Amino acid sequence: MIHLPENILSIRDFSSDQVHALLENCSENFAPIRSTDKWALLFLEPSTRTRASFQIAAQDLNFNPVIFEGTGSSLEKGESLNDTLENLWALGVNRFVIRQKTQGLLPELTDPRWRIINAGDGTGEHPTQALLDALTLKRKFNRLDGVKLLIMGDLLHSRVAHSWIYLAPLLGIELYLSSPEALKPGQNVTHWSPDPEEFLKKMDVVMTVRIQKERFNTQAELQTQFEAIEKKYQLKKDSLNSNQRFMAPGPVYWNSEIEGSLKEDSRSLILDQVKMGRVLRRTMMLSMSSVG
Ligand code: CP
Repeated sequence: MIHLPENILSIRDFSSDQVHALLENCSENFAPIRSTDKWALLFLEPSTRTRASFQIAAQDLNFNPVIFEGTGSSLEKGESLNDTLENLWALGVNRFVIRQKTQGLLPELTDPRWRIINAGDGTGEHPTQALLDALTLKRKFNRLDGVKLLIMGDLLHSRVAHSWIYLAPLLGIELYLSSPEALKPGQNVTHWSPDPEEFLKKMDVVMTVRIQKERFNTQAELQTQFEAIEKKYQLKKDSLNSNQRFMAPGPVYWNSEIEGSLKEDSRSLILDQVKMGRVLRRTMMLSMSSVG
C-alpha cells in the first residue's frame, strides 16, 4: 500500500518518494474492492476528462460515488461549500474529489473527518493531471530523470503548468517554459523564455496549454493573447522531429495552440494522457480508501 498525503491539494503535498511510489504502483490490472469509504465527486466547474476518469476509476473499484455539480444543488441557493461538505459527510461521504473556480480555497475545506483530492482549483493547481502526464511520459520513455519537457502557451492561467513547476524537480525532469510576457507563470522558474524556438529543438516532449478564455477580464485582452499564441506559440507539424512527442492536457483549441493537421499525428500523446488519467486516478483512489 502506498502512503499518500492525507489531502492532495498541491504537488507540494508530495515527497519525491511518494510520487515515485504512486507512479510505480499504477497498473492496468485492477480488481473491485470492498471499502468502508464513500466518495463524492464535486465538479463545480466544467470538465470532461477529469470527471469521467474519476467516475470510471471509481466504477473500476466497485465504488458508487455521489456525482455532484453546482447547478441543481443548494450551492445555487447560497449554501457554502463548507456546509455542503458537512452535509454530505452526515450522509456518509468521507472522500471528496473537488473541482472548483476559486484558487486557494481548498485548504479551508480540509477536516480530519474527510480527505480531499484537488481536481483543479481555478488558476491554482491540477495535481492529478500533472501526475498522469508524468505517468504517460514514464510509459513512453521508460524513464523520467533527464527527460526534457517544454510547456508553452497560457502559463499564467494554467493550473497544469503550475503543478508541473512543482512536480518536475521531484522527478528529475528538466522543465522549460515559454509564453508571451503577459502570460508568464506566477512562480519563480529557472527556464522561461518568450521565444519557444530557444528550446524546441532540444526537447523530448512539448506540451501545449490552451488559452484559458474563461479567465480573462476583457475581450480585447483575450483577442490580443489569442493572436499572440497563434502567431508565435502554435505547435506546427514541422516544429518537431520524428523522435519528439507532444501532449496537451485538453481541451485543445485546434489551430490555436496546435495546428489542426497534428490531430492524427503519430507523435501525439494526447489520448495516452486521457487513458493514463483512469489508471492514475484509480490507483490514487484505491490508496486513499480503507479496505474492509
Ligand atoms: N485536462 C482536464 O482537466 O480536462 P477537463 O477540464 O475536461 O477535465
